[in-house]
Amino acid sequence: MYVLDKESNKPLYLQLYEAMKKEIVTTLKYGDKLPSIRNVASQYSISKNTAELAYKQLYTEGYIESAPQSGYFVADMPLEQDPPIKTIYMLNTKTSPSIRYDFIPARLTPDAFPLKLWKRLFIKAMGAELDFGAYGDRQGEIGLREEIARYLMQSRGVNCDAGHVIICGGFADSMHILATLLKKQCSHIAIEHPGFPIVRSLFNDYGYTTVPIHVDQDGLVIDELEVSPSNLVYITPSHQYPTGVSMPIRNRIRLLNWSKQIGGIIIEDDYDSELRYQNRPIPSLQGLDKDDRVIYVGTFSKSLSPALRVSYLVLPHRYLDKYKMLFLTRHQRCSVSLSTQKTLELFMAGGHWERHLRKIRTLNRKKHDVMKETLQKTFGSMIEIISEGGGLAILMRPTHTINLNVLRQNALEKGIKLYLASDYYGNDWEAIRMGFGGLSETEIREGVALLKEVWMNTLEKKDQN
Ligand SMILES: Cc1ncc(COP(=O)(O)O)c(C=O)c1O
Repeated sequence: MYVLDKESNKPLYLQLYEAMKKEIVTTLKYGDKLPSIRNVASQYSISKNTAELAYKQLYTEGYIESAPQSGYFVADMPLEQDPPIKTIYMLNTKTSPSIRYDFIPARLTPDAFPLKLWKRLFIKAMGAELDFGAYGDRQGEIGLREEIARYLMQSRGVNCDAGHVIICGGFADSMHILATLLKKQCSHIAIEHPGFPIVRSLFNDYGYTTVPIHVDQDGLVIDELEVSPSNLVYITPSHQYPTGVSMPIRNRIRLLNWSKQIGGIIIEDDYDSELRYQNRPIPSLQGLDKDDRVIYVGTFSKSLSPALRVSYLVLPHRYLDKYKMLFLTRHQRCSVSLSTQKTLELFMAGGHWERHLRKIRTLNRKKHDVMKETLQKTFGSMIEIISEGGGLAILMRPTHTINLNVLRQNALEKGIKLYLASDYYGNDWEAIRMGFGGLSETEIREGVALLKEVWMNTLEKKDQN
């Protein structure tokens, strides 16, 4: 029997989800049947929608499975790690004047940035007697680190305090720090394939051997990792880049067990976890880690602005001394300006970040839905949507033969810029990443309609040749 408090500020579906999750990890076992959504709704006098939301979240996180016509069951998961129960709450400059519809997967429109408020807070920060005659804190300003730590604990279930947080000037900056920090301990790094290309090139530059590990519908294939020579792995477990899949809880636990057994290290890149449109954000892997082996990486680029260049690392306790020895006493200084850090600190401390996240999620959810519907209506069975429901892009592939490089060239001539997955991952990847964050809803509709024309012309020309 779960206790649901209808007077509480916490949404009912969240209460139900947490109560069920607790029961699953503490009492139930693999294969146990769960009550139907309808029964739960009537037993607790809640709407079917509310119960369904809780089930959906448990399903997304891999705690439960469904079988056609039979309902929901407890999913298989290793027992080693007990997942702790966490409370979790949830600049468009056209690249060239001739490009009218740029489907770039990593951009936000200018109206997504709270410019007026930012200016006001910037002036306030300037008035707060910042010492522009001195270098700031090498690890990042303590006030901002405290805000980030608080946010991560509350909304991502990350276990940390300000002492673990390092402010960085974007993802590559964080990776430079990690590649230096881990060099003596690791000669290889396992990376997702397909995956974020920067990781491979950057770690190669530092002399690491990269070991590509395939990705399937559950994310990184752990069987492959277990037989690899690497004790270091980089992953995007909550929203795999670029396939969009999330790693279920059983695999998260297996991964943590792997790192514990071999003394391994996991770099968790949680780059766009705030942007989930159908379910709540999935709790971080770091929050499940009891062995101090997960390095957490985050950024403000996806939800606030990529132009600010602010990201962060959360280091496990075991690396803090080494980090201090290597960086704080020597060359490294925080690469984000004092004024940006202070303004961001005020932004977070004033509750604006939480409000902004709600706004940005709604804004991008709408664009996501418009993109999905428009693609489906316009292309019908000519395409298949492979990944959706989060981030700033939908991944789709043609269901018939069309040369995507020719399509891209033809599209460019009509002012459409397309991004092909094959550019990064080889020709096995016949897919287009349809970014929506940098376009208005109208532009998405117009751009997709024009793309259909170009697509049909490309097919016609092929038939004539
Ligand atoms: C997989 C992944 N990680 C991290 C980032 C964040 O990069 P940055 O903080 O440098 O903007 C991105 C941005 O596109 C990304 O796609």
